[in-house]
Amino acid sequence: MDKTQKTIIAYDKNSKIYAEKFMNFDIYTERIKDFIKFIKVKDIILDLGCGPGNVAKQLELCGKEISVTGIDLSEEMIELARRNVPSATLYCQDIRDIEFKEKSFDAIILSFCIVHLSDEEMVKLIEKVSRYLKKNGKLYLSFMEGKKKGFETTSFSKEEIFFNYYLTEEVELILENNGIGILKIVKQDYPEPDGTLTTDVFVFAEKE
Ligand SMILES: C[S@@+](CC[C@H](N)C(=O)[O-])C[C@H]1O[C@@H](n2cnc3c(N)ncnc32)[C@H](O)[C@@H]1O
Repeated sequence: MDKTQKTIIAYDKNSKIYAEKFMNFDIYTERIKDFIKFIKVKDIILDLGCGPGNVAKQLELCGKEISVTGIDLSEEMIELARRNVPSATLYCQDIRDIEFKEKSFDAIILSFCIVHLSDEEMVKLIEKVSRYLKKNGKLYLSFMEGKKKGFETTSFSKEEIFFNYYLTEEVELILENNGIGILKIVKQDYPEPDGTLTTDVFVFAEKE
């Protein structure tokens, strides 16, 4: 079984626990609300690895009449997202296989989804994101900082999930190489169940 199959099995099994923890998780909701300041009325938004629809829900609630397309490979997550965000268009699909027309979106959300990709898959995804964003289109990208990669159990899953941590400077360079300029970076400590701290990184960026 490859890393993605194993990861999606874990998300399918623990989707409800994930949703309970993260649908209204203050420190992440604050970041999304901050990003919504960059969103315009009637914007067309793509949310990749949308999970139970936590980010899409905030977008739905922002009152800017935006349309959101959410994609996730976990059937159970998509099922929850359908219930949580009735206005969104949702597809159960691998984010490595997406195909859209160039310049289709005003904003793209990559909220803690690149953490499940290999380095090569992440670079390919950013290349696609750059093509799918309109000029001055906005990117929301979050990930955990570090150099680790491998399988881990987490607070929401006893089943192992593949996690890839990234260095902020490396991500910045990949974005820059794809014509995406940084608007803002916020780093925030995330307390792990074992008492250690992980650094979450939130990048707001713009297609040139
Ligand atoms: C950490 S959760 C993030 C969910 C939500 N975006 C958030 O910020 O809370 C990662 C999500 O990515 C999905 N995922 C992982 N690999 C994927 C892939 N290759 N294609 C589509 N979805 C994937 C998982 O099913 C899971 O819902």
